[in-house]
Amino acid sequence: MCDMEVINHYDLLIEEENDPFRDPPILQEYMSQWDGARFIEAMELTKSKKVLEIGIGTGRIAVKVAPFCMNLTGIDVSPKTIKRAKENLKEHTNIVFICDDFNDYQFSGTFDVIYSSLTMMHFKHKKQVVTKIDTLLSKNGIFCLSIDKNQSEYIDIGTRKIRVYPDTLENIKSLIMATAMSVSMVFETDNAYIIVSKK
Ligand SMILES: C[S@@+](CC[C@H](N)C(=O)[O-])C[C@H]1O[C@@H](n2cnc3c(N)ncnc32)[C@H](O)[C@@H]1O
Repeated sequence: MCDMEVINHYDLLIEEENDPFRDPPILQEYMSQWDGARFIEAMELTKSKKVLEIGIGTGRIAVKVAPFCMNLTGIDVSPKTIKRAKENLKEHTNIVFICDDFNDYQFSGTFDVIYSSLTMMHFKHKKQVVTKIDTLLSKNGIFCLSIDKNQSEYIDIGTRKIRVYPDTLENIKSLIMATAMSVSMVFETDNAYIIVSKK
């Protein structure tokens, strides 16, 4: 069960018109310091692949993925964020939006690619999340994860402070290696580590 303060925080960001999808190009370039073109290339997208984004947000990354896959499922726990993502991505008819906690939602079927950026720090029970990803990933599937280098235990925006659970490269790698996935590549961006795993 996701913390209500997390849902509230992301709902409020939409009310505050904080939407990275609609940022001017210079700010979009800044946000790509957590993922960027190499993150998307690592997904090895093709028009036959089924893709899942965990924490789709307002669609900043999904807009670059949807045109290159068969279909994209985006899950996000914040109702206002999902509503905004639907508006932002309305031209992409191959996207399914789910408003729920990733940990709680019962998916039907598996995915060829699973990716997530700037979201893992919200999960307290990381082993449970990585295990679920492993069960949702098809054989030969690819899991691309961006973890924030920031080790602060709070997102502090002045008017509110949200508890997060920072990730370390070693911890995430060992959780992945304890599943049927193996780590195939790790690289660094300015603000994140990108871990690419294959099953
Ligand atoms: C910092 S935003 C990143 C959004 C997007 N990945 C991006 O990089 O633009 C984190 C997102 O994760 C979502 N989130 C947090 N905890 C979640 C959970 N347990 N299940 C699904 N989504 C979650 C939040 O609502 C928020 O939209």
